[in-house]
Amino acid sequence: MNRRYRKTIIAGNWKMNKTPSETKAFAEEFKALLPKTKWCDVVVCVPLVDVPAAVRAFKDSRVAVGAENIFYEKSGAYTGEVSAEMLADIDVRYVIVGHSERRQYFGETDIIVNKKVHAALEAGLNPIICVGESLEQREMGVTMELIALQVKSALAGVPAEQIRRCVIAYEPIWAIGTGKTATGEQAAEVCTFIRATIRSLYGARLARGVTIQYGGSMNPENARELLSHEDIDGGLIGGASLKADKLIAIVHAANQG
Ligand code: PGA
Repeated sequence: MNRRYRKTIIAGNWKMNKTPSETKAFAEEFKALLPKTKWCDVVVCVPLVDVPAAVRAFKDSRVAVGAENIFYEKSGAYTGEVSAEMLADIDVRYVIVGHSERRQYFGETDIIVNKKVHAALEAGLNPIICVGESLEQREMGVTMELIALQVKSALAGVPAEQIRRCVIAYEPIWAIGTGKTATGEQAAEVCTFIRATIRSLYGARLARGVTIQYGGSMNPENARELLSHEDIDGGLIGGASLKADKLIAIVHAANQG
């Protein structure tokens, strides 16, 4: 983390978990546990059907609500889809874009990710853009090339004045939901590389202000070490974000740095 130049953001990604009533119960428990002073930004990204309950429950708190997906068109004949405008209208502030599960199961390509990034920014949502390599790609030694491609194509056409609103989450696919965390060094190496890639596109001053998260089995035990690295500015947390006390423990770890 480097709080001088950029925000530290701890974000939960619930994936396809919890009902609206469970969302309300989580929010009550979570709010009661939140530290009163000096805390990082906290975002909870929830399934669409839980969004209204989450927005209501976190209304008067400093917890921002995020969605896990959007479609890139504003409106029209796209049965089953939801636009960034619709979410912004009900006070959603963030949206996850390009999560590896969406790339893998729902055919989300780098081009679609780029369109969604633009749609989010236009509607006033802050995109959390996920990038990351598979185990095979890591072993083939193409991690950095792949990350550069994912970052550059996600940000294609994003103007300089919008770049600070983009969060990049480095999520090695082999560490997601597997209990296998990247070591601090492995995660930091790629996060530093991501900042260098942003620097090559936008210059050093703007690159310094971008929040870069690590995601992949982050938990209360390993958060402190991961966040101690200069270029790791927070976490995108799946499994451990489903329990209020675990997510709070990660917020505490971020507060201590
Ligand atoms: P995990 O998921 O923390 O359960 O590994 C992270 C993510 O997919 O964002």
